[in-house]
Amino acid sequence: MMNLAIRPLTASAFAGDVSGIDLTRPLAPDSVRAIDEGMDRHGVLVFHDQRFSDDTQMAFSRQFGELEVSSGAELYKERRLAHMELADISNIDTQGQLRGANDHLRLTALGNRLWHSDASFRAAPAKYSLLSARAIPGTGGNTEFADMRAAYDALDAALKAEIEDLITEHSNAYSREQIGIAKADYGADNQKRIKPVRQRLVRYDPRTRRKSLYLSAHIGAVVGMPVAEGRMLIRELIEHATQRQFVYAHAWQQWDLVIWDNRTTMHRARRYDDLREVRDMRRTTIRGEGVTAAQPQ
Ligand code: OGA
Ligand code: MN
Repeated sequence: MMNLAIRPLTASAFAGDVSGIDLTRPLAPDSVRAIDEGMDRHGVLVFHDQRFSDDTQMAFSRQFGELEVSSGAELYKERRLAHMELADISNIDTQGQLRGANDHLRLTALGNRLWHSDASFRAAPAKYSLLSARAIPGTGGNTEFADMRAAYDALDAALKAEIEDLITEHSNAYSREQIGIAKADYGADNQKRIKPVRQRLVRYDPRTRRKSLYLSAHIGAVVGMPVAEGRMLIRELIEHATQRQFVYAHAWQQWDLVIWDNRTTMHRARRYDDLREVRDMRRTTIRGEGVTAAQPQ
């Protein structure tokens, strides 16, 4: 018997608040299906009081597909968490201490405050992200989500036609470049991992029959355009797509789990006093099912 109910959190039903389900226990197939259908409709789902361990979070997440190894785990040797499939979205180091002002991983993590879509720098980019709030700060540290389907729909017909077949280039290094972190800082052994990949700018989902803008801070170029022109186009589209009417701001409570679809949404972290307050969030990420564009040789 399933008591799962979804209450819209925004006028457009972009985000939904889900009740009547304990995600830490094994789920019946119809519950997994109900969540998948909820994601198609809403793009962002919020669940409260889900007391996950790392193991139960991974087990729950695997019901939606294969887990990605976190890009942080791939790029940096320093690891606080045992499992490579958990992205460490915290301000804590391997000794359990708050990271200092000039800590390298703290500075890299600041890139999450740019609007982005997770792992858009992978040739087959991420489907869902699932973020579990283990410890939250007293103030600040919201996460904001923007609706890339509604943002696409709101473009005028001429602009839709202009961008329909455009291809963009994504790399982790492009988002970090925006906050002054250079390509060289990734080290020689990581240069292959930051090679740009190609994505469609407009995605189409045959299941929902909706198009969405595939935008991300990881975009550094539009194929066939001078870099400056491509970046200005992307900047203008991101400004359009993150207007208030497309955005849901999530104020976290401990043990919230938020699931978002990276194919149809962007998100960003908001600031908090990370030098003084602990924020410990852990993310599992579901691998996407295919490429959006052919990759160059
Ligand atoms: C993420 C992310 C935002 C936040 O986990 O992918 O961007 O508010 N998090 O921590
Ligand atoms: Mn993210």
